[in-house]
Amino acid sequence: MQQPMIEVNQVQRILHGAGRDLHILRDVSFAVAQGEWVALTGPSGSGKSTLLGILAGIDQPSSGSVKLDGVEISGMPEKKLARLRNEKIGIVFQSFHLIESMTAQENVEAPLYIHARRKEAVMLGEEMLARVGLSDRRHHRPFQLSGGEQQRVAIARAMVGGPCILLADEPTGNLDSATSKQVLSILQQLRAQLKLTIVMVTHDARIAALADRCLHIMDGRLGGPQFPAVLKNTPQEVPA
Ligand SMILES: Nc1ncnc2c1ncn2[C@@H]1O[C@H](COP(=O)(O)OP(=O)(O)OP(=O)(O)O)[C@@H](O)[C@H]1O
Ligand SMILES: [Mg+2]
Repeated sequence: MQQPMIEVNQVQRILHGAGRDLHILRDVSFAVAQGEWVALTGPSGSGKSTLLGILAGIDQPSSGSVKLDGVEISGMPEKKLARLRNEKIGIVFQSFHLIESMTAQENVEAPLYIHARRKEAVMLGEEMLARVGLSDRRHHRPFQLSGGEQQRVAIARAMVGGPCILLADEPTGNLDSATSKQVLSILQQLRAQLKLTIVMVTHDARIAALADRCLHIMDGRLGGPQFPAVLKNTPQEVPA
């Protein structure tokens, strides 16, 4: 079998609070194949964002192992982790987290300022904005863009460094259904074009059904009741 893109083994996340320990994640183990789209569902407070943060190397597990593309990231020094995050991972959140003083183009280019040349950053930024259908909004600032457009800019920014993994936490949570549909179509296209591996948190069963597979988390544990229709081989229609 091909090496999984994401491999999580026996991950625990325990917060040591006043007087008692909070078990946020308990014995979480799963693998995601290269190019697979996995939906992560579960009630509020079940540990979805915590798990996504651990996959992104933003948060560290209390114990257990997380391998991305075969590389162990738990316990990795922050500098090395930051480099790996930059190269391999794109992250999209429910609220778009764009920099208000920058144009759409500058927001997309920003992750490249660290190592790419200015000219290359501009070129790649333009290319990514075109992929999300926003070439004509290049010079607009976030407040001049709709919610869906802002999320498309955020997706372009997440993708500009050419990551192999996209982690998305309720990426359509702030959008109406027509705009969600548009954003999900873009994710489907990017996945097909760029062979992305996607882990997406969602509360919406119809959105979860777009994924190849659904992981359900409850009280920090994988398992429990799942949304139906979990395994599919063909790309699904985005719900209306
Ligand atoms: N820094 C923290 N300090 C204390 N408790 C925390 C902290 N971060 C998360 N938690 C708790 O951990 C649990 C899991 O939180 P998490 O944000 O992962 O849930 P979630 O499944 O993403 O919820 P939602 O669907 O509401 O976004 C919750 O009970 C939350 O209150
Ligand atoms: Mg959350």
